Amino acid sequence: MSESQTTFIMVKPDGVKRELVDEIIRRFESIGLTLISRRDITPSLELAETHYGIHKERPFFSEVVDFITSGPVVAMAWMGENAISEARKLIGATNWEEAEPGTIRADFARSIEENVIHGSDGEDTAAFELELWFPDGLES
Ligand code: TYD
Ligand code: MG
Repeated sequence: MSESQTTFIMVKPDGVKRELVDEIIRRFESIGLTLISRRDITPSLELAETHYGIHKERPFFSEVVDFITSGPVVAMAWMGENAISEARKLIGATNWEEAEPGTIRADFARSIEENVIHGSDGEDTAAFELELWFPDGLES
């Protein structure tokens, strides 16, 4: 089954500093997804804590929040058929050492934390994250 979806993608501060944004955008375009909105921002503490709120009780919570507030990120909305799962496939496993060859994390991540990119993991999280990062709505 295929369904048109919009997913939330963020290039994290390590990916921005290492100038991987253009390469990452090219990879998303190459799987047929369309970029519909983009914001280049350094996330506030509140935004980062809300984004990772689901992990509040996890031991890595404060580190991952510190990490994504450490510099500019590129927040994006990508649309297309099965965009949520297709994007997760392109991104690869959380742990770069387990990520499939050819995925963004397998190619570029340097640790479980510095894993370059975030992608929504389901329809509910995509809706929540798009609203959080694009409170004024998506462009079309
Ligand atoms: P998670 O949502 O599990 O991974 P994903 O980004 O693949 O959806 O975790 C969110 C982020 O938290 C993850 O990208 C990197 C960081 N993290 C750690 O630093 N240590 C860990 O053990 C885990 C599971 C995640
Ligand atoms: Mg996640």
